Amino acid sequence: MNTPLLLLNSLTPSQFLAEYWQKKPLLIKNAIPNFESLLSPEELAGLACEDDVQSRIVEYIKGEWHAHHGPFDDDDFAKLPEKPSKEHNWTLLVQSVNHYLPEASALLQQFDFIPHARLDDLMVSYAPDGGGVGPHFDSYDVFLLQGQGKRIWRISEQSDLTLVEGAPLRILKNFDTAQEWLLEAGDMLYLPPHLAHWGIAVSDGGKDCMTYSIGFRAPKNQELATEFLGFMQDKLNQDQLVLDGIYQDADLTLQLHPAEIGKKMIHTVSENLQKIKWSDEMVSEFLGTYLSDPKPDVVFDANKKIALRAFSEKMTTIGIALDLKSLMLFSDDDFFLNGEMVNFTGESATILKILADNRSIVAEDLKAYPSIDSILLQQLYDWYIAGYLHLIF
Ligand code: SIN
Ligand code: CO
Repeated sequence: MNTPLLLLNSLTPSQFLAEYWQKKPLLIKNAIPNFESLLSPEELAGLACEDDVQSRIVEYIKGEWHAHHGPFDDDDFAKLPEKPSKEHNWTLLVQSVNHYLPEASALLQQFDFIPHARLDDLMVSYAPDGGGVGPHFDSYDVFLLQGQGKRIWRISEQSDLTLVEGAPLRILKNFDTAQEWLLEAGDMLYLPPHLAHWGIAVSDGGKDCMTYSIGFRAPKNQELATEFLGFMQDKLNQDQLVLDGIYQDADLTLQLHPAEIGKKMIHTVSENLQKIKWSDEMVSEFLGTYLSDPKPDVVFDANKKIALRAFSEKMTTIGIALDLKSLMLFSDDDFFLNGEMVNFTGESATILKILADNRSIVAEDLKAYPSIDSILLQQLYDWYIAGYLHLIF
């Protein structure tokens, strides 16, 4: 778990976390030796043509930026300049490629030294020579892994983060290059949040630039508060949170204005509302269900219904794997899969922790647990039917 990794410039994950994570950039030459590609430009364009895939084409035309949202079709690509120039360039960006490509999901697993609760997705970009999304900053941590072709990365530790007004994407008004590197296939750049950067595609030996962004997420406190208050409201509605009593005013005294809400009433109600309390268990349930909840555009395809016994036999002989779109987290003995919470203890919890950490559990590992609890089996079967997990083929 904590050995030096080529992926981290031969740092251990602990060293990386202590010295770089959320603090400063790190250039890693040859982070993944021989890495070139998980998919071809044509396959990436194919994904961008599918309905449920989030994709964008960013075009730069004579000093102005334009953003188009997918799904695209052949005509959209045909309209792009055949010979991109300094005046007219473009890039294609496809989000959540790990939802569609097992190899992409496997790539993300190399970043398991960061909790799954912080992981967002793998975005893949394609750009002809000179293309890119311009100078900008992101709010989140990112590892930029170079695929085929090359990319010049410029970074700047500037505090001036003023954006170009009216642009359809966030472009920095001023950019002062502090450092510049040329990344080749397999090289990687880690950037902490809010660090200004600018990537310019460089074609190499006829191959255009493809960059793989391993992106993280961190919920805004305001967003957490909004969602948590909604969660607490559900708890109140379901009587899982109870505030006893009723407003009382045996000490009521005559007020001058009958229409006035008296200070005493405000104070009493304020004191009563402050009796709303939450425990760490409630926060854990909130975080688990909220963070594992799929994004609105994610849909699961139900598996073909088979008998529970057949499922059980197949599972123990071939193993199970989470669907590429599934997210499974846990806290103590509470398990969260795609926004739902279940509780398992003992050996069942051990099995589910393997599934959550590795996103799969192979038949070999299941051999250590010859008598799987029937409630766990039923739960795995229900998730299988829902399409949240699959039998490994
Ligand atoms: C890209 O791959 O073109 C953009 C990645 C980024 O700057 O965050
Ligand atoms: Co960026």
